[in-house]
Amino acid sequence: MGGRYTVKEPLTLPGMVGVHPRMRELYHLVHRAARADVPVLVVGETGTGKELVARSLHDLSDARSGEFVDINCAAFSDGMFEGELFGWKKGAFTGSVGDRKGLVAAANGGTLFLDEICSMPLHLQAKLLRVIEDRLFRPLGASSKSRSDFRVVAAASMSPGQMLAEGRIRPDLLYRLGVITIEVPPLRERGTDINRLAEWFASQTFSGSEMCRCLVEKFKKYSWPGNVRELKAVIQRLSVTVDEEKICAHHLDFPRVEDGDLETVLEQVRWDVGRAARQLGVSRSTLYRRMRELRIRRPQMAGGGVAD
Ligand SMILES: Nc1ncnc2c1ncn2[C@@H]1O[C@H](COP(=O)(O)OP(=O)(O)OP(=O)(O)O)[C@@H](O)[C@H]1O
Ligand SMILES: [Mg+2]
Repeated sequence: MGGRYTVKEPLTLPGMVGVHPRMRELYHLVHRAARADVPVLVVGETGTGKELVARSLHDLSDARSGEFVDINCAAFSDGMFEGELFGWKKGAFTGSVGDRKGLVAAANGGTLFLDEICSMPLHLQAKLLRVIEDRLFRPLGASSKSRSDFRVVAAASMSPGQMLAEGRIRPDLLYRLGVITIEVPPLRERGTDINRLAEWFASQTFSGSEMCRCLVEKFKKYSWPGNVRELKAVIQRLSVTVDEEKICAHHLDFPRVEDGDLETVLEQVRWDVGRAARQLGVSRSTLYRRMRELRIRRPQMAGGGVAD
């Protein structure tokens, strides 16, 4: 790839708006990581732009001539996941009428993007680690191994420490995936990038309307639990609901946050998240995400011990 730094890389990424120092640092790291053939772990709250980063890593790397295979690990049932990943041979199990190429094989020459990696069952994480290490895998029912050369990018909306603490990821896999860990900062920590992003989305959606200072001020004070995705949705909603030249703070209808209610439910079930999720009719991962967004944590027990 020639001498280092002979080409000055643009301090941006396709489709990404923002110039905050933390974003500049991120662009720089993405450009560098894309050129190195090492696994990358992208972490950040929901809606911060992890998928955009993963796609940039693919588009800027040698893997761009291959496929970008996007796997949402939360979307598969435990029983189907292994077959989808590794494929199968005809007759591997009841109902498998033909051979099936898996996602790992499809990523040959390209990028395997493992989104929500901490939703992958632990026994599959062990198999995945082996494929990453030696590039060989065995489709279900196959007598021999197949080879696939791919670039690995994983994403998680939990910090590595939290994933480990909750037993959601095997430490050996985490160390392998996180050779380079790229943290996408939450929107509320990006200073005036909030205005820039708002202007950018507005330029795509508003026809002639202008954003009032009071609106921008309110944006700055809001916590943006849904990050850039939420900002985009807010701007799109305003463009539909407001028919005035100037869009002001009073036009906003930020969602009401029922953190009090959620905490009460959790207290009632003595912080058994699984039980609380069942009571609320949501999945455990949704509840965990909501707790993170609302910064709800189990209080420490008297005496300084951490409750578990
Ligand atoms: N810096 C940015 N500039 C412009 N658009 C952005 C930026 N970051 C994110 N977006 C947009 O915000 C939305 C959410 O981004 P993305 O899907 O990459 O987030 P994510 O971190 O993968 O979210 P999740 O954790 O929910 O999967 C997308 O529509 C994306 O195009
Ligand atoms: Mg995503």
